[in-house]
Amino acid sequence: MSADKTSRNILITNALPYANGPLHLGHMVGFMQADIWARFQKIRGHKVTFVGGDDQHGTPIMLGAEKQGITPQQLIDNTEAQHKESLTGFSIDIDNYTGTHHAENQRLSSEIYLKLKEAGHIDVRVIKQAFDEEKGMFLPDRYVKGTCPKCKSPDQYGDNCEVCGTTYDTTDLIDPYSVLSGKAPIEKESEHYFFKVSEFESMLSDWKDSGALQPEIANKLGEWFESGLIDWDISRDKPYWGFEIPEAPGKYFYVWLDAPIGYMASHKIHCDNTGDDWASYWQASKSANTELYHFIGKDIVRFHTLFWPAMLEAADYRRPNAVFVHGFLQVDGAKMSKSRGTFIMAETYLKHLNPEYLRYYFAAKLSNNVVDMDLNLEDFTARVNSDVVGKMVNIASRCAGFIVKRFDGQLATESAAPELHDEFANAAEAIAARYENREYSQAMRDIMALADKANQFIDEHKPWILIKDENKLDEVQRVCTAGINAFRSLCIYLKPVLPNLVSEAEAFLNTGELNWSDLQEPLLDHQINKFKPLMTRVETESIEKMIEESKESLEEVSTIDPESPLGKDPISEEINFDDFAKIDLRIAKIVKAEHVDGADKLLQLTLDLGGDTRNVFAGIKSAYKPEDLEGKMTVMVANLAPRKMRFGMSEGMVLAAGPGGSDLFVLNPDEGALPGMRVK
Ligand code: MSP
Ligand code: ZN
Repeated sequence: MSADKTSRNILITNALPYANGPLHLGHMVGFMQADIWARFQKIRGHKVTFVGGDDQHGTPIMLGAEKQGITPQQLIDNTEAQHKESLTGFSIDIDNYTGTHHAENQRLSSEIYLKLKEAGHIDVRVIKQAFDEEKGMFLPDRYVKGTCPKCKSPDQYGDNCEVCGTTYDTTDLIDPYSVLSGKAPIEKESEHYFFKVSEFESMLSDWKDSGALQPEIANKLGEWFESGLIDWDISRDKPYWGFEIPEAPGKYFYVWLDAPIGYMASHKIHCDNTGDDWASYWQASKSANTELYHFIGKDIVRFHTLFWPAMLEAADYRRPNAVFVHGFLQVDGAKMSKSRGTFIMAETYLKHLNPEYLRYYFAAKLSNNVVDMDLNLEDFTARVNSDVVGKMVNIASRCAGFIVKRFDGQLATESAAPELHDEFANAAEAIAARYENREYSQAMRDIMALADKANQFIDEHKPWILIKDENKLDEVQRVCTAGINAFRSLCIYLKPVLPNLVSEAEAFLNTGELNWSDLQEPLLDHQINKFKPLMTRVETESIEKMIEESKESLEEVSTIDPESPLGKDPISEEINFDDFAKIDLRIAKIVKAEHVDGADKLLQLTLDLGGDTRNVFAGIKSAYKPEDLEGKMTVMVANLAPRKMRFGMSEGMVLAAGPGGSDLFVLNPDEGALPGMRVK
């Protein structure tokens, strides 16, 4: 079997990068993951459309433009040109790239909003917010700083303290000041528009269990349901850089309202250009034969898995078949850092290194989970040099010379190793399944295991020795034909990851475009072209230069986005030892465990800490019956600030490990542990 039997119509998106700064290697994780998937589906014979664009609205863009003395329009145009260049540089093959400020997006955003409004899903409420009188604008949390109400550290942001970790409301800050004017903000009321997400709880609950989400993401949704869905504030007051809300002068759509609609708008423009049928991809009633997939990073899950499906549903559009969430990129085991030179811009990388090194390395590390990925620069060098250069390209360079010089470029009419060819061909479905499931790292391992076999075969037959014997020339031709065929199969397998290398290989093999269906028939009695080295080794000096340049360039370009953390899902970051030492871990005895009315996931635990009793809600109902827990020991975080949940106050947190569902383990300390004992 060569490809899936029926051809699919697949629409793919990757998160729209924010238009206030250049792309960095972190951004490239999602783009490469999506691009590899898109290219894989294409060579399997499916129709694939990959659309994108910049996310061009919001306060940082408005203020960024002001600071540079240009209009927001100029700023977003400049950035778009820059982003496109970086994407092309990494061979991200996007069919249409249109930013969210496009008129088509305004039309669609207004249409969808009006549908939500007509159906009664929009509420208008008056809220109080910090207002900068000098600037004449409301201040997002990140634009207000002040002294932490808890530990009294100065210059902390309006939502949480970076010193003691406390989260609070902006109004709790001591001596607050506006980051823009330095003046103390006043509190001012204004009307905001809310999307009543809570009205979609049952639809979202079906969606959670529909298989469209990775297990860890579905669990996350479960937690959000437990703590109660909060209505979403979708408006901002002027001055704001965005689209004005229809029938609401002076009110603008919050950037995150029109950002995902940008996927639809970009695709619409693609369809207008190509004649494709947009409605068959988006209208709920017409979309049975099309598929929609979003690739995103783990910080923007809430927008894509709660708000977005609810908006689509409310406006009679289809839901995505899946949202694929990836983890964050770290470099050399730590968060990307400007001072270490590991906050690497796409552009800087491209100046020093071959983009396909990184495509291969990311593929070799990526899987279908949400785990962070480490770009270890030593491992990067070793891996690319050993796998792509040492194993794959080497096969061609060991065989091509003999074929070209001694046989006029002609492959033999029969291969010395038909069984090797069969082994390669038989792996096709297993490798396809790895790609389909986004288990790229496993796919790379499977492919490299085949490359090892091909190299072993050549080592065993030693064409460089056979060639000295006039009577063995036919055998040399057949051995090298087997080698070239193995190389060709590897090219097909790696084509989604290494498009440039494979395109050069196609010219060398003189085959035209290779596809998955070409894996079955070997290339025999066929003329190939002269071989040129397809990839050189990664040079350590180039990496060093890139790191040096990353240290320098970042002094000038600030990539800090003061608003972007706003509303995004928190990302767990590295903590230092002092942070760790602050966590008070204690042995706790579960004296009572009970069901909670109306909660599918929670158990209410009464914990004894050796005198001190705590009430804790724990999301472990899927794994434990309450009666099995009573009398057992667990480990809890004893100094977590009490948190008000829908069902009552939770005073601490029980530690559990496992993938979730019924595989969740509340640690059970050895005998001899006494309630209240410190754990570390
Ligand atoms: N503009 C929004 C997305 C709107 S989608 C309708 C946004 N922009 S972003 O520029 O901040 O991020 C774009 C994508 O890059 C997101 O998927 C984000 O998760 C991802 N990443 C940003 N930094 C990253 C890393 N360090 N590592 C991996 N992915 C990262 O969010
Ligand atoms: Zn503090």
